[in-house]
Amino acid sequence: MASIEVDVSSLVEGTSLTVKWRGRPVFIRNRTQQEIETARAAALADLKDPLARNANLVDDQPATDLARSAGEGRENWIVMIGVCTHLGCVPLGQAGDFGGWFCPCHGSHYDTAGRVRKGPAPENLAIPSFEFISETVVRIG
Ligand code: FES
Repeated sequence: MASIEVDVSSLVEGTSLTVKWRGRPVFIRNRTQQEIETARAAALADLKDPLARNANLVDDQPATDLARSAGEGRENWIVMIGVCTHLGCVPLGQAGDFGGWFCPCHGSHYDTAGRVRKGPAPENLAIPSFEFISETVVRIG
């Protein structure tokens, strides 16, 4: 399977990058502390999709902010396939009622951890398999 390596050294806190992987956009964001705290403050019981949808974890992990992030020590990083889980539009970043992503096609709102919070999308934005192979390079796939 084709993997790509992405240099994220230019992504200061609060900025994002979109790369293409296997024909689909992948969002990489260096989240602000406030974005992380907002996501952590959400009660799991309020989530529409309770699963992490993180290919790097075993199935059925709850969708905590940590399970949606790049993990311990890299909680600021989030890497997600930028395809709305409703009908496949590309959501807009830092938009919508929860300050994360907003899909303008039919109005799905995702939070700062990419979890669907409102609208017709059934699942959280999918997290592909990835790893940081250095402090500044992420390998996706
Ligand atoms: Fe995103 Fe329908 S495709 S809300």
